[in-house]
Amino acid sequence: MSTAIVYITKHGCTGKASRILGEKLGNDVTVINLKSDGEPDLSLYDTVIVGGSIHVGKIQRRIKKFIEKHREELLTKRIGLYLCCMYEGETAEKQFEEAYPLELRDHACAIGLFGGEFDFSKMNFFERMIVKKVASIEESVSRLDPGAIEEFARKISAADREI
Ligand SMILES: Cc1cc2nc3c(=O)[nH]c(=O)nc-3n(C[C@H](O)[C@H](O)[C@H](O)COP(=O)(O)O)c2cc1C
Repeated sequence: MSTAIVYITKHGCTGKASRILGEKLGNDVTVINLKSDGEPDLSLYDTVIVGGSIHVGKIQRRIKKFIEKHREELLTKRIGLYLCCMYEGETAEKQFEEAYPLELRDHACAIGLFGGEFDFSKMNFFERMIVKKVASIEESVSRLDPGAIEEFARKISAADREI
C-alpha cells in the first residue's frame, strides 16, 4: 500500500510531525512538502494524508487549494487529515472543522490534532509580538503530541489492512 503524506509547514513543526508519522507508518511512504517538493501525482498512491498548521486561526491557503483541486480524487482514496496547532480541546476542534471540508472529514479514516510548537527562532518580529500578546508565552515551547501521531498512524495502518 503506497502512502503520500502531503504537508505544508511555516516554522517546521508540521514537517517534524509528518516525518515522525512517516516513520511510524513504515514502508512505502513518501513525505512531500508541497512548497519545496511541488504537487505529487496522487494516482501513484492508495492512501493520501494531508497536514497543515494554524496561523491566526487559519490553515495554509496552499492546503485549502490543494484540497479543492484534488477533491474528487481524494474522495476515491483512503485519506487522513491532521493539523498542528497550539490551542487544544474545543478550540482546536473548531479550527480543524474550519480547515478541512466536511465531506473530506467524513471520508477520512484518521483525523488528528498533533499539538504544536512555538519556535521563537523562526518567527519574525510581528509573529513574536502576536504570540507574546495572545498566548502570553515568552520562550520557545514544544507541545507536539507523539501519542496523537501514534494513534493516527494506528488508524491508517488498520484501514490499510482492511483492503
Ligand atoms: C503568528 C502565529 C499565530 C498562531 N496562531 C494560532 C492560532 O490561531 N491557533 C492555534 O491553535 N495555534 C496558533 N499558532 C500556533 C501554531 O499553530 C504552531 O506554532 C504550529 O506548531 C505551527 O506549525 P508549523 O511550524 O508547521 O507552521 C500560531 C503561531 C504563530 C507563530
